[in-house]
Amino acid sequence: MQSIFKGKHFISLQDWTKDEIDTLLEVSLDLKKKFAMGIPTPYLAYKTVFLMFFEQSTRTRNSMEAGIGQLGGHGIFLDTSTMQIAHGEVARDTAVILSRYGHAIACRNCGWDVGNKYLREMEKWSTVPVFNLQCDLFHPMQGIADLMTIREKAGNLKGIKVSIIWAYATSHKKPVSVPLTQVQLFPRYGMDVTLAYPVGYDLPDWAIEQARANAEAHGGELTITRNMEEAYRGAHIVIPKNWGSWVTDQSDEVIDDRLESNKGWKCTEEMMKLADRDVMYMHALPADRNNEVEDSVIDGPRSIVYDEAENRLHTAKAVMALTMGGK
Ligand code: CP
Repeated sequence: MQSIFKGKHFISLQDWTKDEIDTLLEVSLDLKKKFAMGIPTPYLAYKTVFLMFFEQSTRTRNSMEAGIGQLGGHGIFLDTSTMQIAHGEVARDTAVILSRYGHAIACRNCGWDVGNKYLREMEKWSTVPVFNLQCDLFHPMQGIADLMTIREKAGNLKGIKVSIIWAYATSHKKPVSVPLTQVQLFPRYGMDVTLAYPVGYDLPDWAIEQARANAEAHGGELTITRNMEEAYRGAHIVIPKNWGSWVTDQSDEVIDDRLESNKGWKCTEEMMKLADRDVMYMHALPADRNNEVEDSVIDGPRSIVYDEAENRLHTAKAVMALTMGGK
């Protein structure tokens, strides 16, 4: 069991070994049990994490703020539009200064072809751990919570069929970071992953190559299809979720002809009937209700979205406890 994490950055789960991710899951479960029993966990007393947000958030911001408080430390929320970043201050200067004031820097920056570069630049100059709270490419905080949730619900991960399915949405042009993280992570645990999406919604080629290599190394499988029904058929877990056509079209426009021609990609009761009888429905949230998914599915007995969202707290605490404290 890997036990040395202090100072480690958390930008992509690809940067963490399977041993390290296993420890993260164990610590998350331990923190979850202690939280349930009201046992204090002041592992990060007097420590400060800065929480920089270029975009909106409900789960990520609040799991981090509540989490650091429950660990005895303090989180400082930073809306980057009110920082000198808005006047052009560079990532290097922000990273060096915040490093001197606290013990970790967390940042959400989802700008296409900008966000991950910004985080990697902070990682280069920061003397404290840098946490990715979602960028254009990765959402490791979501990925680890999803993995914890699937393990809790499904038990043995090897061979379970998980389908990551593109879905129609008009709320905003969502990043590719959630499906990209999932498609890379789940095969590392031997899952049989199906990725289904219509023309124009590809994930980057390099990400798929890494996902295939992960599947090969760990006995998982990766199938890519343009057939939504095929993805639902026999699935134990379905994750129907929108992502934008960023790889093929970098425009910020949310609604275009390509999107509108794929309105049929919706998680319905009819689709759910094709899946395994005990299928579970997951979504990172926020869901675009009645576009991505019917209310009767997301609010129905197969949905585990609230348990999934709850695990964001326990996994965020584990990331902080291990990298800001420990050894
Ligand atoms: N899933 C997720 O990251 O939610 P928020 O955008 O609300 O943080």
